[in-house]
Amino acid sequence: MSDEPGRGQMEFRRLAPDLERPLAEFFSALVAAGDDRVFHPHPFTPEAAAERARYSGEDVYCVAVARDQVLGYGMLRGWDEGYAVPSLGIAIHPAARSIGLGRALMLYLHAEARRRGAPRIRLKVYPENTSAVALYRSLGYELCRDDGEGDQLVGFKALG
Ligand SMILES: CC(C)(COP(=O)(O)OP(=O)(O)OC[C@H]1O[C@@H](n2cnc3c(N)ncnc32)[C@H](O)[C@@H]1OP(=O)(O)O)[C@@H](O)C(=O)NCCC(=O)NCCS
Repeated sequence: MSDEPGRGQMEFRRLAPDLERPLAEFFSALVAAGDDRVFHPHPFTPEAAAERARYSGEDVYCVAVARDQVLGYGMLRGWDEGYAVPSLGIAIHPAARSIGLGRALMLYLHAEARRRGAPRIRLKVYPENTSAVALYRSLGYELCRDDGEGDQLVGFKALG
């Protein structure tokens, strides 16, 4: 099966039950790298992977996958709760950074939000998370302090 032609090519996919284990391994790699200190949209446990892999609702959970390995994870949340403006979150596998995948995943999520008619996107980021701050600024997010969000900056990008 591993010799199937083309199987090594990376794809962006909606989460599905067959991705539970790869997603759990990805979560565990994020925790091992300490990334859960700066990115914690939900616990990064095997239970959370099982839950996300079976998610069905209005929000978006997607992954970049190659050879059954999750290289990136992205989400747009808020529609389930009735918000018009979704909140975005992404993480790239520590071994797959700095090849442009974070930027590609952001653009994919922007297009999906536009396709669904969202007027803008919201996100949160710690000011010391310099790579994420640089990525978001370069994509046109305006970042500002919001007392309601503790130590994190809140960012918005209008979707034209
Ligand atoms: C932030 C993160 C998503 C970037 O992903 P990535 O795939 O490495 O990013 P890319 O290769 O697409 O680079 C995109 C931009 O990010 C910024 N960036 C990436 N790595 C950087 C680094 N080490 N230092 C400074 N800026 C960096 C740059 O602006 C870069 O653009 P450029 O290549 O034109 O200079 C990734 O580091 C990550 O998953 N971090 C842990 C989880 C996290 O912090 N998520 C965001 C929570 S708010």
